[in-house]
Amino acid sequence: MVGKSGVEAPEELEIASAVSTDRNAPIGIFDSGLGGLSVWREIAAMMPAEHVQYIADSAFVPYGVRPPEEIRARSIAVAGFLVERGVKLVVVACNTASAHAIDELRTAYPGMTFVGLEPAVKPAVGMTMTGRVGVLATPRTVTGDRLRVLIDHWSDGVQVHTIAGNGMVELVEAGVLGGDDVNAVIGPILDPLLEDHVDVLVLGCTHYPFLHDAIADYVGPAVRVIDSGNAIARRTLSLLQNGRLLHDRGQAGSITLFTTGDADEATRVSTLLTSRELTATHVDV
Ligand code: DGL
Repeated sequence: MVGKSGVEAPEELEIASAVSTDRNAPIGIFDSGLGGLSVWREIAAMMPAEHVQYIADSAFVPYGVRPPEEIRARSIAVAGFLVERGVKLVVVACNTASAHAIDELRTAYPGMTFVGLEPAVKPAVGMTMTGRVGVLATPRTVTGDRLRVLIDHWSDGVQVHTIAGNGMVELVEAGVLGGDDVNAVIGPILDPLLEDHVDVLVLGCTHYPFLHDAIADYVGPAVRVIDSGNAIARRTLSLLQNGRLLHDRGQAGSITLFTTGDADEATRVSTLLTSRELTATHVDV
């Protein structure tokens, strides 16, 4: 289904016909790894009856250091896996994939609704008192055009300091969420932002909310730490409501977890991240 360029979907018609209009069909979520579970937990809290099929492209994590063409090819491949499973909507729970692949995803799977993420620059600009905001994201998001356009559009005279969170995704993927190992990675990343007197810090990667407590401890109470998870859940809710696609029964939603990497490791870390007993299944995509 994925052409050499990574953006074609030769079986387009067949795939498009698989787009589900059944309100009880699952929501699809993907990320480079397990970070997108920070978005899932917001969706699960807001829409507890929904069933979710989540795929972590763990064999290719991190996306944030890969060339844009590879991010596009992988995004189209894992989204195709979800589309074929009959999902009614796909949440791209990855800022990096949203920045580099959302247009190609919509072209590859016409008829499917994709919800993309972007760093919460707009709310941060509204909150700052010092006129200085920090945005922490993956190297590829920080250097991408989309973030630049977003900042140009919303900064309104506020100084927006972007910085790459090198090494932070790897910590979350290993299930290391606090302690000296985390401080050794986040300290050198956060110090320049503190020196710059930012008072709002945007977590522009879905892995980073799992390091929220360590980050908040490090920057102290004068810096508010925000992310886009809740806004994306609200957007998903509104799209499902407008499309009459909200699940219509009970409170017993579920999550089915797939990984292109090691299933035992994904089971261990996802259980740790979510405090739920999850079991991952390996798939080749
Ligand atoms: N969690 C992803 C994001 O929001 C990607 C992290 C990565 O794989 O580099 O950007």
